[in-house]
Amino acid sequence: MKLGTYYVVELPEPDDFEFWRERARSLIQCDVPPDRIAWIEPGSSGDLFAHGERRAPVPPGDAPAVRANRRFVPLAKNAALHSDPERFALLYRLLWRLQANPRMMEDKADPDVRRIEELDKNVRRDSHKMHAFVRFRLVENEETDGEHYVAWFEPEHHILRANAGFFMRRFANMRWSILTPQGSLHWDGETMREGPPAERVDAPGGDPMEDLWRTYYASIFNPARLKVGAMLKEMPRKYWKNMPEAALIPELVAGAQKRESAMVDAGALEFEERPETLAAIDKAIHACRKCPIGALENQAVMGEGPQDAALMIVGEQPGDQEDQAGRPFVGPAGQLLDVHLEKAGIDRKASYVTNTVKHFKYVQRGKRRLHQSPAAKEIDTCRWWIESERAIVQPKLVLAMGASAARGMLGKTVSISKARGAPIALEEGCELWITAHPSYLLRLEGPAREEQARLFDADLVAVKERLEELSG
Ligand code: URA
Repeated sequence: MKLGTYYVVELPEPDDFEFWRERARSLIQCDVPPDRIAWIEPGSSGDLFAHGERRAPVPPGDAPAVRANRRFVPLAKNAALHSDPERFALLYRLLWRLQANPRMMEDKADPDVRRIEELDKNVRRDSHKMHAFVRFRLVENEETDGEHYVAWFEPEHHILRANAGFFMRRFANMRWSILTPQGSLHWDGETMREGPPAERVDAPGGDPMEDLWRTYYASIFNPARLKVGAMLKEMPRKYWKNMPEAALIPELVAGAQKRESAMVDAGALEFEERPETLAAIDKAIHACRKCPIGALENQAVMGEGPQDAALMIVGEQPGDQEDQAGRPFVGPAGQLLDVHLEKAGIDRKASYVTNTVKHFKYVQRGKRRLHQSPAAKEIDTCRWWIESERAIVQPKLVLAMGASAARGMLGKTVSISKARGAPIALEEGCELWITAHPSYLLRLEGPAREEQARLFDADLVAVKERLEELSG
């Protein structure tokens, strides 16, 4: 190091910990003390240091390796995401001091140690808020010809990129964008793209999903557990404006006590144990609000048929007509099912007929309610009920029709074309057979419909024969 040299390090990105780490290593190996370095992040002016040395110093070949304590690195990675302009200087000062005192991180009274811990805590808290409070709104995307979900969020720290993986994993099958004043993330189901900073007006204001969230929140809001102070701590007011459901908070708090007694009456507070009778399941699904579908204007539809049926037939969810009638498979798909069951010689009345998801999921378009497929998460939540039904009915064979029913039985997605035609062993000797859903046939025409009807019939005949073997 030249005596008196002042180093200016311009970070390419405000969250670029790796860049800081590389530079910090060579500066330490060149013995540059903390007060001879200015750490400048993008967007802040480096003019004050116009005469500073911007090139990285080259450490001598025999420079000792830089020591970083194991506790320091994870803390530093997080603290580097803080919005405090002094954070990189703090990290360097700590690293510099660690060379002489490797146990320094254990000194809880040291002001630098306390500061890095505080930064780390603030950043973790900001990430936690982002995970909890990002709210996607549905927009139609003509370019990509599909649904696109857009969320607006204002993080306090530079946490956007660090949290990309979290949202990618959680919403892997959705096409989404998260817009923030610091930058944006765009996921198309396969690749993540970063984009420029955005403004509040770039994000959509509200849409029917918002109503769904709002209704959902109102229904899961548990007045029996209401603690206003704790709620405000968890969900500070500044996040409320981006969360549709937050608009309900004052109203919900006011009505909490009234709703509590109503929920107790409906049995909504008692869902922890598996019901032991079909009647108990019926009662419980009517009060179930474990996912937003149950909060729509619909009624739960219970399975029907003999409790000792050897065959359990499982569909996806009630449709519009089933919802109105309160019975499974009474609409167009049910009528087609009846025709094919009869053709295969299967007696519907001797079978237990039910659905994976107990409520009708739809979007309202004018007077019509359009069917919406349940999301994997919703199926997985509702599996509790179909498993409870199976435990009581104890069928020898389950026929799952369509991908949602197959997922409801197996807890994972399978391809119908690959899984059909052969049994899958479930517990207690029960066999699962998978076939297409009759609604799928209804959507086809001409030779394609004929071909699928032929495959459907063949599956039903195989089921009938297997049932006879199992009962024989
Ligand atoms: N589709 C289903 O999956 N179930 C019904 O009950 C009706 C239509």
